[in-house]
Amino acid sequence: MVLTLAPLAGYTDKAFRKIASFYGAQETVTEMVSAEGLARNSAKTEALLERFSEDENLTLQLFGPDGDTFYRALKAFNWRSFSKIDINAGCPVPKVVKTGAGSALMKNPKTAAEIIHVLKEETGLKVSIKFRLGWDEEHLNYLDFAEEAVKSGADELTLHARTRAQGYSGTARKEHFKKLRNLFPKDESTSPLLYASGDVFAAEDALSYFNDYGMDGVMFARGAIGNPFIFRETRELLEKGSYEEATIEEKVSTALEHLALAISYYGENTASREMRKVVMAYVKGVKNASKVKALISTASTYKEYENALKLLIQ
Ligand SMILES: Cc1cc2nc3c(=O)[nH]c(=O)nc-3n(C[C@H](O)[C@H](O)[C@H](O)COP(=O)(O)O)c2cc1C
Repeated sequence: MVLTLAPLAGYTDKAFRKIASFYGAQETVTEMVSAEGLARNSAKTEALLERFSEDENLTLQLFGPDGDTFYRALKAFNWRSFSKIDINAGCPVPKVVKTGAGSALMKNPKTAAEIIHVLKEETGLKVSIKFRLGWDEEHLNYLDFAEEAVKSGADELTLHARTRAQGYSGTARKEHFKKLRNLFPKDESTSPLLYASGDVFAAEDALSYFNDYGMDGVMFARGAIGNPFIFRETRELLEKGSYEEATIEEKVSTALEHLALAISYYGENTASREMRKVVMAYVKGVKNASKVKALISTASTYKEYENALKLLIQ
């Protein structure tokens, strides 16, 4: 049962990954990285590959439109220290999809297969692919897509049980995980590892993917933003049948640690601006926090965050 921090563009940088690992994420994934950007040696793209030395079990997620782009990317950077390469076949953002990348790959399973071949042949690393149910309601082709991916050499599959057209709205349609599991029975040695993604907002949601849907791994996405404690809670639930929730003191100290890590490499100005949405997520659901939230929404130094958050524990 693998607990993984999902790829989240704009969130799963090295600071968040370090904190998630501390709380029990067994694997983490970079945010999606442009294969074309790497092929062109874009400094901005390469910055997304940065990691702390203890960032082990790190999967690199790449997006791109075809095998040639991935091939050129692999020639341009050092992929050897990643434990796995994941192909993004789920991103619904128009800017990405119109290039043929992200969920547009679901319209072209042969292209996805070609990308898998390139990655397997050139790297020898484990290769996984993260995809959706299909492009839209009329094209729910995830089972055929999965079959083709595995035939082409994919070692692991992650299904996000929404269509491209759904974006992130509505609920994840969990019944489809059973169909995916039936296609690749758990006890068969040729079956890929199957990961579930969609609506993991509490430890119970993750546990249900293991117990009720037979998944091998779970990706924690929106439910882990400002809540890395969800990894510890899930592990405790698995092992003891119950868990302790994080205290307000722990939320405050972890939010400040997360901020300090971000400041250590983005600098105080940029990190303070970028981290507002993240620190806000740490205090989500905390009672009587409206004044603190107002202060966070304009905080521009570490001290301002600290002064705001400390109001919660006085
Ligand atoms: C802000 C945001 C950024 C995301 N970035 C990526 C990404 O870079 N790569 C990817 O495969 N999925 C990305 N996703 C999708 C998530 O990994 C996950 O599959 C999705 O949010 C469903 O899980 P959830 O309902 O538990 O949040 C992103 C989702 C969100 C909300």
